[in-house]
Amino acid sequence: MTGLFVTFEGGEGSGKSTQIARLADSLKADGRQVVVTREPGGTTGADILREVVLAGGAKRFGNDAEAALFAAARADHMECVILPALAAGHDVLCDRFVDSTRVYQGRPDNAAYLAALERAALAGRMPDLTFILDVPAEVGLKRAAGRRGTGGADRFEAEEASLHEARRLAFLTIAAQEPERCIIVDATGPVDEIAQAILDHVRVRAAAEA
Ligand code: TYD
Repeated sequence: MTGLFVTFEGGEGSGKSTQIARLADSLKADGRQVVVTREPGGTTGADILREVVLAGGAKRFGNDAEAALFAAARADHMECVILPALAAGHDVLCDRFVDSTRVYQGRPDNAAYLAALERAALAGRMPDLTFILDVPAEVGLKRAAGRRGTGGADRFEAEEASLHEARRLAFLTIAAQEPERCIIVDATGPVDEIAQAILDHVRVRAAAEA
């Protein structure tokens, strides 16, 4: 039996890591084996690309080159971590995945290019469930700044609020287009309630796959 592949998406400060940790604990308590990972990153090679891209080292090559680097990191992550874990029957919880590329690197004229990168990186395996943690941009940015303290914003966090709001709408659009896979979660509410709602969805899906 293969495990469930669950991804978490959303803007800065939407609470993804808190919710992933909560879900991992609950699924383990249910007796499931769980692998928690994140993008960009998750393998030695992908972590190198993470550092380069988030520090802005690839910005000079342009948006589509950055998209290719995210895809290269993803292909390695899929092959070395995600697919083997699923095949072993483990659930994989991944902080950001392909929808982040669609949203952050999506441009009016590059949909076909991103779709080709996606096909190459995914090896035909889309997530079973994607939780889109939805918060208004100004709430998320405030949370991210609070968490960061005196440290600097990364390449993507530093962009202005209107861009963050546009990304929020882009995530909601993906959810509307792929309702079987994507679940929108209002991430402004209490952490416990959000965690329970997410767990309920995953349990239903796990029961359906068993
Ligand atoms: P990260 O430090 O992991 O923070 P968070 O998920 O909490 O925002 O930052 C990852 C950044 O990389 C984030 O700003 C989104 C961006 N990103 C892309 O632009 N494209 C992608 O395909 C992925 C996976 C991430």
